[in-house]
Amino acid sequence: MKILKIISVLLLAMCIGCSSGDDGGPQVGGPTETPDPDSETPPVDNSDPFLYSATENLKDVADFPLGNIVSASKLASTSASNTTFKDILNQEYNSITAENDMKMANMFTGPDTYDFSDGDAIVAYALENGFRVHGHALIWHSSIPNWLNTFEGTDEEFEAQVEAYVKATVAHFAEVTDGDGTPVVASWDVVNEYFDGSAVRTSLFTQRIGTDFHEKAFQWAREADPDVKLFYNDYNIAGEVDKRNAIISMVSNFISDDIPIDGIGMQMHLNHDWPSTDLPTSIQDIADTGLLVHISELDVKANYSDDLSELTVERAQAQEEQYQRVGYYYTTIVPQAQQFGLTIWGVRDQDSWLYDGGSDWPLLYDNDFNTKITHRGLVDGLEGVAP
Ligand code: XIL
Repeated sequence: MKILKIISVLLLAMCIGCSSGDDGGPQVGGPTETPDPDSETPPVDNSDPFLYSATENLKDVADFPLGNIVSASKLASTSASNTTFKDILNQEYNSITAENDMKMANMFTGPDTYDFSDGDAIVAYALENGFRVHGHALIWHSSIPNWLNTFEGTDEEFEAQVEAYVKATVAHFAEVTDGDGTPVVASWDVVNEYFDGSAVRTSLFTQRIGTDFHEKAFQWAREADPDVKLFYNDYNIAGEVDKRNAIISMVSNFISDDIPIDGIGMQMHLNHDWPSTDLPTSIQDIADTGLLVHISELDVKANYSDDLSELTVERAQAQEEQYQRVGYYYTTIVPQAQQFGLTIWGVRDQDSWLYDGGSDWPLLYDNDFNTKITHRGLVDGLEGVAP
């Protein structure tokens, strides 16, 4: 493995030496040869052990969609950093998920009242730039609008509100199609994080609708759109065996009870050293359901126990390998027809929900948008280089 890496570094160095720089090879993280004087991004410092000069775009090395997250405000912004963000997004990815704009708290603004404007802007950007949109997330206990939390109507009225919201949202976002008639919003996370460990999580929805609210939600979504792909999404599906088994048994109940479901989203918020052997096992187990498999929110913490005050080379390499493992196991274990795609939860470290004032570095690009070695790990994995 080490030898392979050394060879690939040598080949890469030769390649960079002979590249004309305009052969379609990525400029991710800034130019590798002739610096553009107008560019905000400094050239990659090849002596920096945390960075590398990428020669391939993620979407080009995978046979399935590669995604990242967006917000309507970032897409609308013309600041230098958001312009670079969009350049990288357009170059390396072909699927987008709204980080927050298509969650219930953002869209369900009052009784029978919806604001889809941010989602609409995201869909318009996707249409214009050739992205697929993955809808995230119709029902999540962490994204409930205040008015619904304090809703004073009866439980029946509460359920009617949620039913109307699910149907209105799914129907609304089914409207936009591309030139081939394919809907831009391909899929929805219908229910996010129903389980807490292997138990059903107590939430406003279990309290006011019942523990079968998730089944109802999938049926409502399907009634609103017969074709959109419906996902169940959760964290620690890799890493927590009991939780995974609860989800797998939920799926078999759905199937025997004719509750519509198309796929499972494995969030994949990982650590550099966790999970280890359970990572391939979990991907295999989820693939064995026969449903679509989405790695839906990938990031890898390098400092989860806060033992580092700055990133070390050793830790960055462990993190690189964890990214490689995810790419490799997803690519090699999940049958092609079930590979819905792999979505990374953020571009720059500082934009990550896990950044925590700079005490972790979970993503593929540093704060100047340079490609980190984690990016190389993912590319290697997607290319089938065994970790
Ligand atoms: C996170 C966003 O990244 C944050 O900006 C927001 O404050 C909270 O939600 N699981 C999910 C995502 O399904 O929606 C969460 O996103 C991260 C955990």
